[in-house]
Amino acid sequence: MNIPMVDLKAEYELLQDELNPVLLAALAATQYIGGPNVRAFEQEVAAYCGSRHAIACASGTDALLLALRACGIQAGDEVITTAFTFLASASTISLCGARPVFVDIDPLSYNLDPAQVAAAIGPRTRAIVPVHLYGQPARLEPLAALCRQHGLHLIEDAAQSFGADYGGKKSGAYGDLGCFSFYPSKNLGAFGDGGMVVTDDDRLAAQVRVLASHGSRVRYHHEVLGYNSRLDELQAVVLRVKLKRIDEFNRLRRCVAHAYNARFAGSGIVTPHEDGHGRHVFHQYTVQSERRDAIAAALTGAGVGNAIYYPIALHRQELYGQQYAALELPVTERMVQKVISLPISPLLKPNQIDHIADLVLAAHHA
Ligand SMILES: Cc1ncc(COP(=O)(O)O)c(C=O)c1O
Repeated sequence: MNIPMVDLKAEYELLQDELNPVLLAALAATQYIGGPNVRAFEQEVAAYCGSRHAIACASGTDALLLALRACGIQAGDEVITTAFTFLASASTISLCGARPVFVDIDPLSYNLDPAQVAAAIGPRTRAIVPVHLYGQPARLEPLAALCRQHGLHLIEDAAQSFGADYGGKKSGAYGDLGCFSFYPSKNLGAFGDGGMVVTDDDRLAAQVRVLASHGSRVRYHHEVLGYNSRLDELQAVVLRVKLKRIDEFNRLRRCVAHAYNARFAGSGIVTPHEDGHGRHVFHQYTVQSERRDAIAAALTGAGVGNAIYYPIALHRQELYGQQYAALELPVTERMVQKVISLPISPLLKPNQIDHIADLVLAAHHA
């Protein structure tokens, strides 16, 4: 039984009767850039997240870059984030000319540890970028309190957590700005690249929009150095169809995760810990095992997708050379050795879950 890590084909087949006509209509309408579906999708995301503004852009990476730039992050500044994430959470800080300050994570939620964030705040700190890893919101309340206390920006990297809840708000809507990715494998995924910034702040929203269109408010008048970062009409069409299903899909993801948990109970495999501070959407289902590499080999050998998110902590990336050679992040460094993510999708069937769990348990106990 071959099972892909993300079954995009099954999702497409489920949605094709709804997707095909609207995609064909958008093709025929020929407004491929700046079309009506992009504006409509922005309004729908703003309403869904309960944010005053949503600004579409070309990717989750761009969403972060635009958010950081809108906050004025620049050379000489420091921004606190995690090293246990996808590169873009930190590379965007570096691309602004600022320095990522990596702090360690909580070993159960894999998210930033607020106490260590507090200890890392210094005179150059300008912002905190929590990442809602695997779909579970980071502890935003203590982080927001630190930001208020020290006059910092809170920028949520919500690339993996569309639709997750925290403190009565949607992930992304809690901080000054929230950043989403619509990369195809994301829980709200396009058929190509896409991203979005949400915010309640009128000034920051205007700044993100200006930066995303070559630093221009009025055509051919360029106020600041910006980017060409747009969501295209066809991606907006796809995303509008999928947005209608996001709550149902996230609920199904949670059911799959809980079915896995039941199979692994008592096995010694560390299952995802829902810390009760927010509602996890299980963009990934990630476990810990001392026999992680054997599990990966067994799954791959049986044609079952699996992945290590992430095999190299960011402070150990070649890109950063010796800059962080003296920095030790013991929890992050341990997790890099132990985590493995299993296939998860709203459409994963009970017999597939059982097959995957059988393979994992056999390799874990071998
Ligand atoms: C945590 C995190 N941040 C940022 C990104 C960047 O998003 P994108 O690939 O859309 O640029 C991703 C995903 O790729 C991600 O998982």
